[in-house]
Amino acid sequence: MCGIVGYIGRRDVAPLLLEGLQRLEYRGYDSAGIVITGKAAAGKPGALKMVKAKGRVRELEAKVPKRFAGTTGIAHTRWATHGAPSDENAHPHLDAENKVAVVHNGIIDNASELRAKLTADGIVFLSETDTEVLVHLIARAQAETLEEKVREALRHVEGTYGIAVLHADFNDRIVVARNGSPVVLGIGEKEMFVASDVAALVAHTRQVVTLDDGEMATLKADDFRTYTTEGSTTTATPTTVEWEAESYDMGGHDTYMHKEISEQADAVDRVLRGRIDDRFSTVHLGGLNLDAREARGVRRIKILGCGTSYHAGQIGAQLIEELARIPADAEPASEFRYRNPVVDPDTLYVAVSQSGETYDVLAAVQELKRKGARVLGVVNVVGSAIAREADGGTYVHAGPEVCVVSTKCFTNTVVAFALLALHLGRIRDLSVADGKRIIDGLRRLPDQISEILANEDEIKRLAAEYADAKSMMFIGRVRGYPVAREASLKLKEVSYIHAEAYPASELKHGPLALIEPAMPTVAIVPDDDLLEKNRAAMEEIKARSGRILAVAHQVQEKADHTIVVPKNENELDPILMGIPLQLFAYHTALAMGRDIDKPRNLAKSVTVE
Ligand code: AGP
Repeated sequence: MCGIVGYIGRRDVAPLLLEGLQRLEYRGYDSAGIVITGKAAAGKPGALKMVKAKGRVRELEAKVPKRFAGTTGIAHTRWATHGAPSDENAHPHLDAENKVAVVHNGIIDNASELRAKLTADGIVFLSETDTEVLVHLIARAQAETLEEKVREALRHVEGTYGIAVLHADFNDRIVVARNGSPVVLGIGEKEMFVASDVAALVAHTRQVVTLDDGEMATLKADDFRTYTTEGSTTTATPTTVEWEAESYDMGGHDTYMHKEISEQADAVDRVLRGRIDDRFSTVHLGGLNLDAREARGVRRIKILGCGTSYHAGQIGAQLIEELARIPADAEPASEFRYRNPVVDPDTLYVAVSQSGETYDVLAAVQELKRKGARVLGVVNVVGSAIAREADGGTYVHAGPEVCVVSTKCFTNTVVAFALLALHLGRIRDLSVADGKRIIDGLRRLPDQISEILANEDEIKRLAAEYADAKSMMFIGRVRGYPVAREASLKLKEVSYIHAEAYPASELKHGPLALIEPAMPTVAIVPDDDLLEKNRAAMEEIKARSGRILAVAHQVQEKADHTIVVPKNENELDPILMGIPLQLFAYHTALAMGRDIDKPRNLAKSVTVE
């Protein structure tokens, strides 16, 4: 969703905020804006100076005048929810007297009702956004202090927000508040930062404080304090961000997507490191907060996630059923919450999220907690909302993933599920021999990933071969089906080519009618007990002149082309079989001139419904 960033200190604020916006642009990038104040801004001590622009942050940068000095400011990069991308709808929003400025990430559910009341009171709105109601509520608040004005305004608001507020009459501070959208404080030496994501902070400080829902903070140049929207003080303990600033750089790659695909061998190394116990052929997952006795009492596992994380959860459910023999399944978190699910005390719920901020997942977790369920988190971003809301869990240690299109986090999340399944399996009936077999397979993954990535030129050539497709079908069976689903999403979201995934066994029940030369099929064909059935599905396609690209452990004569990947253990093969299709999607999109890291209409972390 949107990115907010703020600074108060002694340095020239505009360059700091613009650089912070660049770091946050993957969260939303259809328009951007900046407002500054402080000693040097516009002469008068508190006057606000603002610039906004439709388009990318670079468009905003080009509009910022040479003389735009100040030491305090807030800025925003937007992913439109209310009102099309435009200068007027870009944040920050100001009140009529240009005294109050607000940047906001989230959705104000009762914005139209508030807008009607304010309009009836004579307020003239300049934008179509929900956010603008906030700035007028703050400006009209009768309270004495800026903190109380913001609290008074928020009492009228229903919905989600991560906000930063500047006020010309209180220009020694920034007031921030969080409810449902991330807000992280950066604690510096005589300077303070605020952002939606640590990515905008780590270049300046790695000491951070993550606000909880219902929490606010006041930032001054050499101090900060946190309190609730009711006004009672809260204790904030800064933590150290584990990711270095450099890990957010592109590292010599042309795109973050290529960098993140390329670093998967190292990323998988990290998620395995220090967790394998050869003595008992199992793994140790610190932080699960689930002891062996509790684990044995689990009767079912329900995995919840969105998009790529949902697909990782589907593979995770398969791994848990195979290794731990616990009934498991995955479903989209957004669907789960609204189907009035039966929440069963013997079911263990697992929330999967790279960002740890996806609203649909966070809301499902909060609903489950409200009903007394036990929830684990499988998350990448340490200290994120879902990680903090869960009763325990495990981090996937993929490092920062900047590209909107998730690749290394998908792979690390599936490996994390393999570790969880092995852990649970060895508490139950998985034998020492099978535990060792899986551990040996896990240890082979990094080198096998490197072997697959070394085949990039061949995959690039094949991408060119299929770039003329008007649509693509992806098929797989059992373990291969979630791989097909994820590969289909990758192609759709980065190349904009329509693609769909189907269980190979289901083709003959309808989708086979779509098959023709202009509708090629990618078939996931592992050397497992379904090999012959997968070959039969390819035969059905060939008989109807369908083109086939197979991903397999050996060349498939029924396929027009085969990408051969190294064989691991049957249960772990899905981890490897998806990787060439990440590169396939990447090179297809590259050949089509797509914006690889920021595909149209998308955002990296969807913190609204
Ligand atoms: C990933 O390629 C997609 N951009 C998207 O589906 C993403 O996986 C989904 O929005 C969930 O995000 P999360 O993992 O941060 O919760």
